[in-house]
Amino acid sequence: MHPFELTTARLVLNQPNADDVEDIARYCTDPLFEQFMVTPWPYERQHAEWFVEQAVPTGWADGTEWNWAIRARADSPLMGVIGVRHASGMIGYWLGSPYRGTGLMSEATRAVIDAIFERSELERLHWECRHGNVASLRTAQKVGFRYAGVADGTILARDGNPVSSWVAILDKHDSREPKAGWPSH
Ligand SMILES: CC(C)(COP(=O)(O)OP(=O)(O)OC[C@H]1O[C@@H](n2cnc3c(N)ncnc32)[C@H](O)[C@@H]1OP(=O)(O)O)[C@@H](O)C(=O)NCCC(=O)NCCS
Repeated sequence: MHPFELTTARLVLNQPNADDVEDIARYCTDPLFEQFMVTPWPYERQHAEWFVEQAVPTGWADGTEWNWAIRARADSPLMGVIGVRHASGMIGYWLGSPYRGTGLMSEATRAVIDAIFERSELERLHWECRHGNVASLRTAQKVGFRYAGVADGTILARDGNPVSSWVAILDKHDSREPKAGWPSH
């Protein structure tokens, strides 16, 4: 699949590139990433280089994974990353700390969900986050995922063990409205 761009009211989603390496490397050293993500830890510049030079282009080329940089304009700095893995239908996202707290990720996620269901064979998306990651949970809730409980996540921790996770699903023909049944933390 050739990478394609998405636009929303406030955002442009396009390809992470070599100019983003420094920002990615800086944002991924946020202590929240150690706690809630499975990105390498400690996170180093070489990890960001691998992501933009290898992981992103390979994922698009072989159709295994679509990743986008989240920006205010097509040529402005990267604010975060959102992606989907096609084998699992798992969606994942992060925002750099300066850009949190204004609903940008739910806006980006809605656009990505629509694009995935329009442009891929996937009929069901999965989302999971570590138990306690309320900002991620609220984002999934806002964009219409159906809460499916607490379970061992399919994304293993850095030590290779499963972690207690909140999990949710969204089917192609589900409404995108928030649904009842989510934890009220
Ligand atoms: C997850 C993430 C992308 C969400 O983006 P965000 O900008 O923080 O999200 P928002 O500010 O829109 O928050 C979403 C909702 O959660 C709420 N929220 C955020 N943090 C919260 C907290 N600690 N406790 C309770 N509610 C919280 C917000 O009030 C908001 O609800 P509202 O829209 O009803 O007001 C961002 O926090 C992030 O990048 N975190 C670090 C990486 C990460 O954990 N990624 C996800 C891995 S599964």
